[in-house]
Amino acid sequence: MKCVVCRGPAVIDVRRANSNFCSDHFIRFCAEQVSRAIREFKMIEPADRVLVAVSGGKDSLAVWNMLHQAGYQVDGLYLGLGIEGYSDTSVAFARTFAQSRGLKLIEVNLPEEYGYDIPTGARAARRTPCSACGTSKRHLFDKAALEGSYEVLVTGHNLDDEAAVLFGNVLRWQTEYLARQMPVLPARPGFPKKVKPLIRLSERDTAAYCILMGIDYMVEECPMSSGNKHLGYKEALNAIELASPGTKSDFYSGFLRKASQLFRAAYFEGSQDPQPTEDLTHCIRCSAPSTSTLCAFCRLVDKAGGMVTVEQRGSSTASDTSSAQAVRITSRAERSARSTKTEVEAQT
Ligand code: AMP
Ligand code: FES
Ligand code: ZN
Ligand code: ZN
Repeated sequence: MKCVVCRGPAVIDVRRANSNFCSDHFIRFCAEQVSRAIREFKMIEPADRVLVAVSGGKDSLAVWNMLHQAGYQVDGLYLGLGIEGYSDTSVAFARTFAQSRGLKLIEVNLPEEYGYDIPTGARAARRTPCSACGTSKRHLFDKAALEGSYEVLVTGHNLDDEAAVLFGNVLRWQTEYLARQMPVLPARPGFPKKVKPLIRLSERDTAAYCILMGIDYMVEECPMSSGNKHLGYKEALNAIELASPGTKSDFYSGFLRKASQLFRAAYFEGSQDPQPTEDLTHCIRCSAPSTSTLCAFCRLVDKAGGMVTVEQRGSSTASDTSSAQAVRITSRAERSARSTKTEVEAQT
């Protein structure tokens, strides 16, 4: 097996590209796929301050490394979700990576700062762990990006993730979700710009990239995610991909090129902003944009018996709650209200 670029010994085959690569040219291939996605969808400008949401897994560490190597100014954000046997291990990978490269990692710890963890919070709120987790992540990603005045929030969603979500949306013809499924969500009042630079790389690519770059990552998946529908969709797509390489990326890239604007036109009258803000008000507790008086996150925290600190959220979200003040909801929250926001400033 020879590298298609230099004819040296290849270490990996990328069947959808009908190519084999040596280590150096595979790493360049990955970097090129990321820069193509960034260019094509105008994800990041050179002067942008970027925040990468880092789980300690292969995708988010790979994208952090690629953006750093490409010269972007990029910090990391880790959320401690309080999942036993998972959160404590995954944070170590994020810290080690940041320290080894002299990068800044912001840490937010859900149990310490908000008084609940995902497993107990989900049970108390009668939600699946992934749903409670998604609500918490969305809110805290936005909050951290706005508070840190970052221009862009990056997540490590890859081609497999996006194709699986697309597959699920198509199976049920969830046309509104299809209209919103974009690799870039523009900034708007109360929300940062959100981008997914790994849409042209598969899970196998990011795992190989990390191994070849010597990046240690958390291999185990979240224990709460077993039974998650998207894992089944990924398996189905992998079976199709095995028989017919390239189908997965054709499916997703074809959607972006040929279909997504049709769904957007139907729902948002052609607007590039798939989430119009007209219907949004502000959460009376945390001032995040919300369709109801209490936002989804504050409702979850209430049910989970946690606490939210009342504060201004972002400069563009007018609210009269700018003085920081803790709203205590239960005695359990009081016990765990030892609010700590740790920033690991790694040694250079
Ligand atoms: P998942 O929803 O677990 O597939 O993760 C998708 C993306 O969300 C990851 O690639 C990360 O960018 C981000 N992410 C997931 N978990 C965390 C976490 N605990 N802290 C920060 N970012 C996360
Ligand atoms: Fe969110 Fe597992 S990472 S439920
Ligand atoms: Zn080569
Ligand atoms: Zn709120």
